[in-house]
Parts: sequence; C-alpha cells; structure tokens
Amino acid sequence: MFVYLNGEYIPEENARISPDDRGFLFSDGIYEVIRSYDGILFEPEAHLARLRYGAKALRFNETGFDFLPHVASELIQRNGLESGDATVYIQVTRGAAPRTHRFPAKNTPLTIYISARRFNPHHSEQERGIAAILVPDQRWARCDIKSTGLLPNVLANQQAVDAGAFEALFVRDGILMEGSHSNVFAVSKGEVITPPLSNYILGGITREVVLELCRKLGIPHREGIILFSEIPGMEEIMIVGTTVEVTPVRQILNVNFQNRDPGPLTRRLQEGFRERVRSGAAGIQAS
Ligand code: PDD
Repeated sequence: MFVYLNGEYIPEENARISPDDRGFLFSDGIYEVIRSYDGILFEPEAHLARLRYGAKALRFNETGFDFLPHVASELIQRNGLESGDATVYIQVTRGAAPRTHRFPAKNTPLTIYISARRFNPHHSEQERGIAAILVPDQRWARCDIKSTGLLPNVLANQQAVDAGAFEALFVRDGILMEGSHSNVFAVSKGEVITPPLSNYILGGITREVVLELCRKLGIPHREGIILFSEIPGMEEIMIVGTTVEVTPVRQILNVNFQNRDPGPLTRRLQEGFRERVRSGAAGIQAS
C-alpha cells in the first residue's frame, strides 16, 4: 500500500515519523476522514474547508492545503481503490521539534500524512439499527476542531463496545451533543432535530448533507437542543457521519429508548443519502 508523507508517495512500510513529532508528543494535530465511492471523493471541498479551519485555530504556519484532494485521488488510484468503498485519512501535525510546550521555530515544516484504504460499509447496522449508550461528555471545550486528541472519544467508544453497543453518545450538562465518531439526529412530532453548531460538537460534513436533504425533500427540521430527559420520547434517533452515513439507533442501553425499528424519516434520509452518493453530486449547496 502506498501512502503520502511530506511530499512523497512511498510504500507504507517505509513511512517514518520522528518520535519528536508534536502529533506523537502532544496530539498537536488535526485530521480528516473522507469517503470515496467508486473512486469519487465525497464532499472533498467541505473536508478541506474544515481542515483549514482547524489549521487556523491551531495557528499552524500553513493553512492552505490546496493539493490535498489531488493527493487523495492519486492514492486511490495507486492503491487500486477506483471501485468500491474506501476511506482517505489525512493527518497534519505541527511537525517534529525538541519537546517544548510553546510552538517550535516558525520554519518547522508541518507533518502531512495521507493514506487510502478499503472500507467495509456498515450495511447490517444501517439496515437493522444500532445500540448506543449515553456517556458524560468529558471532552475539551473545542470539539469544533477535528483534533487528533481523541482520548475521551476512544474511551467512550470502548465503553460502548464493552456494553455490546456500537456508539457512545455524549451528554453535557443534561444536553445530547454528538457521538464519539458521529453526529446525532432525532425526530420529535414529525420534525427532524439536530444539536446546533457550537464549540461542543464537530461540524460534521454528513450532518450538513443531511440538513440539506431535509430542505430538498421538504422534511420539517431544525437545529435545536435535545435534552437528556427528552430522549425516551423521541420517535426516531439516528447517527450520521462519514463512516456510518445515516444509521438508525435501535436502542439506547442506559435509558428507556428500546427496540425501535428504523422509522420512516430515517429511511427517507438514508434513501436520499444513497441517491446523493449515486448521483456523485459534489459540493454543499448554499440554502
Ligand atoms: N469522525 N463528530 C465526531 C466527534 C466525529 O469524530 C465525526 C467523524 C463526526 C461526523 O463528521 P463527518 O460527517 O464530517 O464525518 C461527528 C470520523 C469519521 C472519524 O473520527 O473517524
């Protein structure tokens, strides 16, 4: 398998990253996961925009990354992933320098690593629905940055797996936020609701596409707060994201939301999402 590291395409086994890399020492880095369907990247410009947003927030010495979609497509070809499902992983760190908390010298080059791999879509989960658990949100207050510092997400996700569930949903101050690796949508009184953008959730690319689908399909929807106490009364709950696409939540193990067959709005959004992928539509249209 070929990967891209700091300007070169090299076999993965030849990729070397310094132990002084600030990604390794401090999680001083950001990342993106982009889906590829039959060799076509899904919403590459939106992912690039979010990466630039993170790079600016972290005050990296470079924030353009115009070449990344080209590198991603090149890796898909070099790794024979032009048909079927794949994911492209992009990680950018502040580079390698002797360990100090302050930023290293201004001319320290960023470390840029990109890989493309075969991906097995979660078909049965999307068909049947998943189990989730609610966990307290122990993350920092800049969840809008797609930081590689994912320890609370890792611990929460493992807690879900240990409980026999697929996803952990974060609750902060009695409010449902998002999943450990997905955004969350719910349906109440026929209306689709998703938590509003803030520093406490990631502005998901799939979330944006699903909101756009709601507009296009004429599905009533709004961005609004979902209280922990409202969860059992929700008609439908779904998680959305690059890897899970639109996946129904069948049950939440630690609250009274049990045995729910995927609902009609979840099914419509799943269908709309598939249609969007099939049409190869690129770029999020402004509302
Ligand atoms: N995660 N919220 C969090 C915390 C996430 O980690 C992700 C995606 C999302 C969904 O965002 P998007 O629709 O842009 O993929 C929301 C990626 C897939 C990951 O960490 O693997």
